[in-house]
Amino acid sequence: MREQVLRVEDLRVEFRIRAEWYPAVDGISFALDRNETLALVGESGCGKSVTALSIMGLVPEPQGRVSAGRIVLDGTDLRTIDETKFEALRGDRMTMIFQEPMTSLNPVMSIGTQVAEALRVHRGMSRGDAEAKALAVLEEVKIPSAKHRFHDYPHQFSGGMRQRVMIAMALACEPTLLLADEPTTALDVTIQAQVLGLLADLKGRHGMAMLFITHNLGVVAQIADRVAVMYAGQIVEEAPVHEIFTRPAHPYTRALFSAIPRMDRAEQMLAAILGRVPPLTDMPKGCRFAPRCPLRREGCEAPQVLAAAAPQHLARCHIATNTFAKELARA
Ligand SMILES: Nc1ncnc2c1ncn2[C@@H]1O[C@H](COP(=O)(O)OP(=O)(O)OP(=O)(O)O)[C@@H](O)[C@H]1O
Ligand SMILES: [Mg+2]
Repeated sequence: MREQVLRVEDLRVEFRIRAEWYPAVDGISFALDRNETLALVGESGCGKSVTALSIMGLVPEPQGRVSAGRIVLDGTDLRTIDETKFEALRGDRMTMIFQEPMTSLNPVMSIGTQVAEALRVHRGMSRGDAEAKALAVLEEVKIPSAKHRFHDYPHQFSGGMRQRVMIAMALACEPTLLLADEPTTALDVTIQAQVLGLLADLKGRHGMAMLFITHNLGVVAQIADRVAVMYAGQIVEEAPVHEIFTRPAHPYTRALFSAIPRMDRAEQMLAAILGRVPPLTDMPKGCRFAPRCPLRREGCEAPQVLAAAAPQHLARCHIATNTFAKELARA
């Protein structure tokens, strides 16, 4: 049975640039079920990290603000709760892991103590219980000889092992939602594959919902159930992973995925597309991708809505949802 963990509705996040507010995330909506992974992909600057940070309540103030929408976690609208309640949720019901583990790990605290600390704070465990559970979690993420390394410091670990420690810390309290922002980008391909395998395994075992941000299509193929493609602060396409690889509908997705003949290449990155993402201060009025779109035609100067291109497949492009939808239906 499907069980919804997270629902984001019409989220708008703005930054102040020269005394004016401009949206970096502009009306995005998606939902995430228990034991499901949604990959969020798109070029640099399209709003992926800002989306994750706003869910965590970490949009930097005062230059940034969530200005509209709802973020509902397990039935609670996070925009209505105060900072104390938010603090209690972070690291407990939802956690985030980043590209660079050193930014999340405390360099002067042993890794065992750090994992145990999360359990003491959020679960109110005694020191002894917390340390026993911390050791179990470090073993679960497959830190070799975890027992002997429990009192080692982060700098004594390799990059891949630090990433595992960060995952252990994120998972210690068994969150319902894990936000992962390029967590394997800094790792070499073999270690990356191991960490992804570990995350998928842990997700299945704990039934977490996972929002996974990445530039890497091999990673998308390996880890995602569904994919949302972002462009200039909006979701331009959303579909099950297989559908995105076999029948991308939006011209932007088609361009991004065009260099990807295979789903099993771990190292392939998003293809480069001619031109640049428009700056926040100068968004086109109609389709935001139109200035770079090889298929641009009449109708593209009007704002586009996210509509069905096929069952369970949404695209923000009138060409995709009219012409391509007919092609797809015939195929
Ligand atoms: N603190 C900030 N102040 C002003 N603008 C910001 C701030 N943080 C992000 N932005 C802007 O918001 C937009 C979205 O940024 P975001 O970091 O979400 O991109 P991203 O999709 O995660 O890119 P990348 O793939 O490079 O990580 C960008 O235009 C960025 O410049
Ligand atoms: Mg980012």
